[in-house]
Amino acid sequence: MTTSAAGSVSRTGARVERLPLARYTTLGVGGEAEVWFVSTHDQLNEAVQQPYRILGGGSNLVIADEGLSERVIRLSGPLAEADLTPDPSLSTPDQIVTGWVGGGVPLPGLIRRLQKLGWSNLEGTVGIPAQVGGAVWMNAGTRYGEMFDGLHTLEIVTPEGTRRVTPDDLKWGYRDSGIPRNHIVSRVRLKLRPSTPGAVLDAMNFADEARKGQPKMKTPGCAFKNPGGVSAGKLIDEAGLKGLRAGNAMIAPEHANFIVNLGGASSADVHALLDAIRSRVPVPMELEYELWPEQA
Ligand code: FAD
Ligand code: EPU
Repeated sequence: MTTSAAGSVSRTGARVERLPLARYTTLGVGGEAEVWFVSTHDQLNEAVQQPYRILGGGSNLVIADEGLSERVIRLSGPLAEADLTPDPSLSTPDQIVTGWVGGGVPLPGLIRRLQKLGWSNLEGTVGIPAQVGGAVWMNAGTRYGEMFDGLHTLEIVTPEGTRRVTPDDLKWGYRDSGIPRNHIVSRVRLKLRPSTPGAVLDAMNFADEARKGQPKMKTPGCAFKNPGGVSAGKLIDEAGLKGLRAGNAMIAPEHANFIVNLGGASSADVHALLDAIRSRVPVPMELEYELWPEQA
């Protein structure tokens, strides 16, 4: 490791810096950790040799104010770029298989590029502020579509090495890819259907309508998964919890499954609201966010 005032550079050239993670989460909460910005497979393979966490768009995370002891990996450079050139050996008149799309690519920009090309299958994920790797790992989606609608091949990196799988190799489902935690989705190839820019845009606008009732403040999205297909937001609303505050965090008055940061919220504020929801809603609910570090 070479160290200077701006941080360090690892043996394989990854930039390493101690940084506040609040900057990398959509909730705007989280203390410091050592962040590894990796842009090659060599750097990724080096980074996973010590305890690590893989950070995507930080749009599903509540990170403790105390920070994290593990290193945090961020995919950057070529691992955050998308090659959308159709692969002629895999594409047919009815199906486009793209080149490699890095796990660090921001999903919203990718969805806009696909719309302009008139390529369908992923437009249902419009409005999800994730990176491709994080969205694939969660199988993020809406009732209009999910990430696994448009995946051909996934490349997964672990301390044991790199492997390639197809969706058929995984047990995926609602908000679940079947990929074990901390197995890094480094790149994927997309499987898309030729359509037209206009038709894809219409479908995106239709799916986006469902977001009209969601709050616009800093938040990590929905707190709980929908239990048995029932809206968790509706259940929390029926328990009378909309607008409940703990410190500088609040259960959004617009949609009860969203906790928002009113400015300067702490991780303890968010935990207090999650506890209130669990104790007041009469149905067992599974957390959709991740708490870093995990709670006992
Ligand atoms: P992060 O939050 O950074 O991490 C989440 C998990 O993914 C962690 O376990 C992390 O280790 C893992 N991860 C991240 N990158 C990788 C990678 N490259 N390889 C392997 N694992 C990785 N979700 C929905 O499903 N549908 C929605 O409609 C939706 N709407 C949202 C709206 C808003 C305003 C917000 C803030 C969030 C919303 N979310 C929604 C939640 C969130 O965007 C998704 O859960 C998303 O999948 C998180 O991806 P991320 O890249 O931000 O991952
Ligand atoms: N509702 C209430 N009160 C509330 C919230 C919702 O009565 O406080 C009612 C609504 O009026 C509606 C029903 O519950 O009749 C469903 O609500 P909504 O349309 O908002 O959908 P949802 O099931 O609450 C899901 C996803 C969202 C996704 C939207 C739109 C989950 C946990 N949530 O919300 O995903 O954006 O559909 O497709 O699956 C996320 O996962 O982070 C997320 C935001």
